[in-house]
Amino acid sequence: MDYEVVVIGGGPGGYVCAIRCAQLGLRTALIERDALGGTCLNRGCVPTKALYSATKLVRQAATAGEMGIAFGPAKIELPRLAAWKDGVVSTLVDGIETLLGKNGVAFFGAGGCLDGPGRVALSTGETLSAERIVLATGSTPIEIPGFSFEDPLVWSSDDALALSEIPERLAVIGGGVIGLELATIYNRLGSLVTVVELLPEILPVVDLDRRTVATLKRSLKLQGIDVRTGTAAQSIGTHGGGPEVRIKDGEAIPVDRALVAVGRRPNSAGLGLETVGVEPDRRGFLPVDGTLRTSAEGVYAIGDLVAGPMLAHKASAEGIALAEALAGGEMRSIDHDRIPQAIFTDPEIASVGLSERTAGERGSLVGRFSYAALGKALGMREPDGFFQVVADGDDHRLLGVQIVGAEASDLISEAAIAVQNGLTLEAIADAIHPHPTLPEGLKEAAENALGRAIHTVNR
Ligand code: NAI
Repeated sequence: MDYEVVVIGGGPGGYVCAIRCAQLGLRTALIERDALGGTCLNRGCVPTKALYSATKLVRQAATAGEMGIAFGPAKIELPRLAAWKDGVVSTLVDGIETLLGKNGVAFFGAGGCLDGPGRVALSTGETLSAERIVLATGSTPIEIPGFSFEDPLVWSSDDALALSEIPERLAVIGGGVIGLELATIYNRLGSLVTVVELLPEILPVVDLDRRTVATLKRSLKLQGIDVRTGTAAQSIGTHGGGPEVRIKDGEAIPVDRALVAVGRRPNSAGLGLETVGVEPDRRGFLPVDGTLRTSAEGVYAIGDLVAGPMLAHKASAEGIALAEALAGGEMRSIDHDRIPQAIFTDPEIASVGLSERTAGERGSLVGRFSYAALGKALGMREPDGFFQVVADGDDHRLLGVQIVGAEASDLISEAAIAVQNGLTLEAIADAIHPHPTLPEGLKEAAENALGRAIHTVNR
């Protein structure tokens, strides 16, 4: 055997799995046909967050006059902004290559597919033999009828992140996570943005409570983003005066570009699955058992290829759990309900565990605390939003936390530790938090659930 483990796909699932396999002494190879880091690093999480933070300056500068510090109008040099974002990405890509080398992972910059049991064929013509094969090939944006990615008027998230232009009018088809994050960025860059969401509410696929979504929706409106829910985008075309997106009831929205972000599908085609007898389900996902093994002996799958939230940190967690099991350890189970999620809108939303709605009667202890009551938030001029904790009415264990407000993406980690480890409201409330900081909001929300918050009126 050439290798004990061959991993196909070098995203946050695959490269993390390969490194941990090698750390645990397994002879490991990683195959990636594109840039290391996958969608997350090259066309997803990292470039969006670079642009999110860069464009936040535009908003802050525009309103800093309220604090007595005035700036002129922002001048956006798109090529420099794009080069800066690309620099962030390439630094991290180089870092992965170094880590692979230092950990002794053999890296093949090629396409790879299964070629019968224990064999992987490379696009270079080579064939590798392996005891175990891990599939980690990720996902691709879904295309919908009426909006071909071949049409120059239509953008996928990849096109939007290439930052080739700032369209005067941008329609965002899909009010999910990607659509709203890119709507936020392009609105800050100066585009007139309309979000068209099929279902009655934005972010319908994330387990969020109504008031969390309402807080974001109100803010999107104040930023000038037009959100049309319960509206199906039918097609894009040029009509009379220019391009437009046709929506239900014969109405049309004039646009310069339409970004389609209606979900992603797993990259399970062209992987040679038939050579080992693995069949994807109707939507292209690979069925796996509790040890992430497919129906074929020695073939495993992780990340966006298998069920669960399509999140980089979920893929990495599966990669590590699988590597440890392949090295002879026990398989750590990953509870999808306890995976935190962060959404980079303005304000940010972050959550872990169950919403008040999903927790139902079990989550009878609910506490909230507003950003407007936090000295740190007011000093940052970030008074919008709140912390919400939901706990078990009997044993006070934290079931779920939602934070909507500034830096929610960073603040959720304390809650994630609590929810993942079954900590109680008292554990959060009794831990001394430094003052003045944003995490005090979580402590006060826990105290509020216990009826003893100091800086808000307890119900
Ligand atoms: P999504 O599933 O979050 O949202 C897609 C939205 O498009 C849905 O709300 C759906 O109702 C709507 N839709 C479908 N067809 C439509 C039509 N014809 N007209 C109007 N609306 C339509 O998918 P998205 O945003 O593409 O993200 C893909 C995956 O990537 C998700 O699983 C997401 O969680 C993940 N992701 C997570 C991020 C984060 O956590 N910060 C960032 C980026 C992606």
